[in-house]
Amino acid sequence: MYQLTAIFNRSCLSDVLLELKERAIEGVTISEVIGKGGVAFDDAGPVELDENIRLDIVVSNELFKEAAKEAIRCNTRDLGKGSGKMWVTPVLEVERIRTGETNEAALRHNDSDERALHFDSYYTAIDTPAS
Ligand SMILES: Nc1ncnc2c1ncn2[C@@H]1O[C@H](COP(=O)(O)OP(=O)(O)OP(=O)(O)O)[C@@H](O)[C@H]1O
Ligand SMILES: [Mg+2]
Repeated sequence: MYQLTAIFNRSCLSDVLLELKERAIEGVTISEVIGKGGVAFDDAGPVELDENIRLDIVVSNELFKEAAKEAIRCNTRDLGKGSGKMWVTPVLEVERIRTGETNEAALRHNDSDERALHFDSYYTAIDTPAS
């Protein structure tokens, strides 16, 4: 299991989320962050920090990790310098709190009741990578 963290401009968020949906990747955490790609403190003191979106996605395998990276890449890289950064960290354990399911089972969305609630959903696949 992997956690993909990506920092990018807020203007790209809708396109990234749509692309993730089209790649059957569900389950995201979104935060508003400030930071700097380069030096954040110079002779004059702290430099002005950039406001960005942070997206965290936990996926169960390599295939979904690469799909998620490409979804972010292709919707953010056209902004030039400062387009953002993303990185991957290993995830040791995941638990769905409601059921106690762990790891891949906790990342799979296969509740029939939930599918019924979202009958007009784009997805028909039983398994999604991180939902
Ligand atoms: N090494 C890092 N560690 C943690 N966060 C980082 C790191 N580098 C960049 N960030 C975060 O990503 C945001 C976007 O970084 P940015 O795109 O400017 O990276 P960069 O390496 O400077 O690339 P570029 O040369 O395109 O500007 C930063 O504002 C910061 O929040
Ligand atoms: Mg930069």
